[in-house]
Amino acid sequence: MIRRRSLFGAIALATTLAATSALPGRWGLDYFPNTSLLDQEGQELRFVDDLLDGRIAVVNFFYLDCPDICGLATARMAKVYEWLGERVGEDIVIISISLTPERDTPEELAAYAEAFGAGEGWYFLTGEPEEVEELRYKLGERSTRLSDHRSDMLIGNVATGEWRRTSLMGNLAAATADILALDPDWEPPRTPAKVLDGATLDSFAEKSRVGEGLFSKGCAACHSIGAGVRVGPDLEGVTLRRDHDWLMRYIRTPDRMLAEGDPIAVKLDQEYPTVRMPRFGLGEKDAADLISYLHAETLRLEELPREGSASDQAHNMDGKDTHGNDAAGHAH
Ligand code: HEC
Repeated sequence: MIRRRSLFGAIALATTLAATSALPGRWGLDYFPNTSLLDQEGQELRFVDDLLDGRIAVVNFFYLDCPDICGLATARMAKVYEWLGERVGEDIVIISISLTPERDTPEELAAYAEAFGAGEGWYFLTGEPEEVEELRYKLGERSTRLSDHRSDMLIGNVATGEWRRTSLMGNLAAATADILALDPDWEPPRTPAKVLDGATLDSFAEKSRVGEGLFSKGCAACHSIGAGVRVGPDLEGVTLRRDHDWLMRYIRTPDRMLAEGDPIAVKLDQEYPTVRMPRFGLGEKDAADLISYLHAETLRLEELPREGSASDQAHNMDGKDTHGNDAAGHAH
């Protein structure tokens, strides 16, 4: 028996195994079924004729009720989407296919897409269960249980027939470069560290400070600390507004607290109805490290002069226990 890995274990493994595994190789257009699918606007689209349509394609799988990895994968895909910029919708298409098409309706997919800022050129798709099943099998998503589904991207250039996989959980700038490199005319930028405007090779890479690496890898795609609401709430001050035990439990088992009717978890779920905080299978040490990082960041931010947003709840914390965390130690 294989023990169920924690999500971060799964991420580490996916990163080492799938950085860009050579498979699948060459696929001509006749390889793919021309499955009829429905996108988040309820439009009927054919997989080959309308979606691939001669373009560079990025394909992944998810489902709306997913308690763990899908939300994080989609949030990370949103970063790739942003970096690919205007080419998405032109010669690049992003195709996210539901693994529970019997449940996921276009209306729900539309709300989900919106929560992640998906627009032009990024399709969230559902369809007839048997047909979607055939398509996913062809695309190499052959897991027999939902919880085991792949979290990487299948990327390919329809014109050259070259297809491969790249990880969504490793270095995202490198993954973005893998996609662009499918275009034979793409020239990688001269400076190796700089792959694209706004995306450097160490964006999202592990950071050394306790908790920071975990945060940037597993949380930052959905949460900012002090830069406003993203997919989930801004976590600045969260260590002041919630107590430590509650945070420990919530970070480790948000789904269970919601199911138990914990009043704060229920309220948060109502405020953020479309995307759910994932369950990561984190151990106590990791959760505690994340909390100390959130707290250190909160204290650091409270010290900085900010316009118009004096947070009243935090003044009793000002001026003490600052650990000398200075702005220079922080990379965001
Ligand atoms: C896929 C997006 C996503 C990811 C990734 C994510 N969260 Fe969340 N988080 C949410 C959402 C959405 C909520 C609001 C509750 C809900 O709807 O489930 C939330 C709520 C929270 C809260 C409660 C905030 C409050 O005001 O009380 C904490 C704490 C939190 N997340 C911490 C984390 C940490 C730590 C990580 C990384 C290990 C993380 N989250 C990763 C989406 C995410």
